[in-house]
Amino acid sequence: MTLTANWSYPTAVRFGAGRIKELPEACAAAGMKRPLLVTDRGLADLPITRATLDILDKAGLGRALFSEVDPNPNEMNLAAGVAAFKAGGHDGVIAFGGGSGLDLGKMVAFMAGQTRPVWDFEDVGDWWTRADADAIFPNVAVPTTAGTGSEVGRASVLTNSQTHEKKIIFHPKVLPSVVICDPELTVGMPKQITAGTGMDAFAHCLEAYCSPHFHPMSQGIALEGMRLVKENLPRAYADGTDLEARGQMMAAAMMGAVAFQKGLGAIHAVSHPVGAIYGTHHGTTNAVVMRAVLDFNRPAIEERIGKAADYLGISGGFDGFCGFVEGLIADLGIPSSLTGLGIADPDFDALLEGALKDPSTGGNPVEMTAENTRPLIAACFS
Ligand SMILES: [Fe+2]
Repeated sequence: MTLTANWSYPTAVRFGAGRIKELPEACAAAGMKRPLLVTDRGLADLPITRATLDILDKAGLGRALFSEVDPNPNEMNLAAGVAAFKAGGHDGVIAFGGGSGLDLGKMVAFMAGQTRPVWDFEDVGDWWTRADADAIFPNVAVPTTAGTGSEVGRASVLTNSQTHEKKIIFHPKVLPSVVICDPELTVGMPKQITAGTGMDAFAHCLEAYCSPHFHPMSQGIALEGMRLVKENLPRAYADGTDLEARGQMMAAAMMGAVAFQKGLGAIHAVSHPVGAIYGTHHGTTNAVVMRAVLDFNRPAIEERIGKAADYLGISGGFDGFCGFVEGLIADLGIPSSLTGLGIADPDFDALLEGALKDPSTGGNPVEMTAENTRPLIAACFS
């Protein structure tokens, strides 16, 4: 089977190995003649980034690069990116990378023409209507990991460097105009990033699947997304050059992001403040807290998880599913507690406050309160 296709769901997706060479056409389709490629510092000097800039250069699109992007991007990274965008007279952004590069790139295209501060566009009620929609520049997304799914999302996560809170900034026109999913770009991903980002995709599917909201389309996508991760993440981790596994993981990542329109839950609600305060890797943190959250949600999800286990070919219902998650995390070299991630002296009050304020709490199948969430966070450290 050749994993190559053009999709128009939820946006225009050019999927397949080697398709990064179509980036100039993608820019043309998005109406860009002077794109700014936004990525993170770690990716800036890698061969895949240089080769991508070469493709742009050869097509007469220049090789402008902005890479002052932190692993958990913040408003200062955004301000610097917007300044670079304006100084270069750019007309659109190529958001390139994992979650950090994709999210910050999308925000630069969104904010370059706005006059209000970015926090005014947090995903609260209809705040997105405050934006001047005509002043939003287009973006083309090129993921280089398989996890975040931000390439098919209408929002970005931005950390407030003052309050250490992760905020979701939403606007329908933040959705990339074109996505290039080229699994060859993920071949060089370090093993622990393959593991962490892959588990982010799994967390998106799992939390969407367990969310109580009515969204049957996302429900189906979440279930198949979990299956793709189960079948392909261990393969991609074992052999990073396995292009079929890499491709299936890229598909699973997009499916996770499409599915979580249905909602996220306590995995992300706990993981977000942990990442914002201690700078841990998002997907890896999700994996670490997943097992405790399954226990936390058990009364509401036991039957539903049993059905998922049947579909995934896991015996033993809910307990079998938990055993599968434990085994997968161990096989991927991910620690089983947040202490193992290097957080020696956690600030439980700050983590609790952050978790309860996180927008993901609303999608958790068990209502999160101070009384039940404090022991949940403690369980993530034990
Ligand atoms: Fe996530």
